[in-house]
Amino acid sequence: MPRPLIYIALVLVALTLVPIGCIYRARHAVKPHPRIQVVYDMDNQHYFQAQHENDFFPDGRAMRTPVAGTVARGDLRTDDPFYRGRVQGDTTFVTEFPVQVDSTLMARGRERFEIYCTPCHGLSGNGNGMVNIRAAALAEGTWTPPTDLRSKNVVERPVGHIYNTITNGIRNMPSYKDQIKPRDRWAIVAYVRALQLSRNASRDDLPAEASAALGQ
Ligand code: HEC
Repeated sequence: MPRPLIYIALVLVALTLVPIGCIYRARHAVKPHPRIQVVYDMDNQHYFQAQHENDFFPDGRAMRTPVAGTVARGDLRTDDPFYRGRVQGDTTFVTEFPVQVDSTLMARGRERFEIYCTPCHGLSGNGNGMVNIRAAALAEGTWTPPTDLRSKNVVERPVGHIYNTITNGIRNMPSYKDQIKPRDRWAIVAYVRALQLSRNASRDDLPAEASAALGQ
């Protein structure tokens, strides 16, 4: 092949790389302007970013708080028994579970209880969790021991009251509403009831074969 033709072929091969290079650059380079768009479709709009200033509002902030009384979609929460543990439209605590109590709920309740409540109340709910052991060892005199969840006082609480304790906290116990969703709170209440039943049970409450298995 004559030499000039070889050079021309090499140049052509080199040129084919140019479009690939252009595409690569277009995809990776950062540009301050939006891409050229034939049909705009409101894709590129002028907007303010979080924490930016905006002269339009008297307080000069671009970020606006929702209008008072705004409710997020699906968050109306009109079901008082389920969301507040209280009789509909009333302040009395419910005595019946507003959810179906079955083994799935119980298993979930046990799992959640062991994550959120045992640090203070202990695995059996007796109030002697690790936090209590540690606080007692420090002996600073400022610690309020967690309540024994099997005590008469808590046994006699309506389920709605225990739900409310998880939601809003009580005296020295903090609220857990941000960590635990309503359904999981009910699952935990169910498990607390199970702990109360099992820990306060006498031998006579056991089925005959379970009692026999325990021996004398
Ligand atoms: C940070 C430690 C801590 C954790 C975690 C904690 N509690 Fe408590 N809880 C307490 C303390 C302390 C009290 C006693 C408060 C007082 O008397 O001032 C208490 C009291 C209670 C009571 C008795 C309230 C009454 O009716 O008098 C219940 C029921 C209860 N807790 C349930 C729970 C459940 C369920 C969880 C898990 C979701 C939980 N607690 C997690 C510290 C804790």
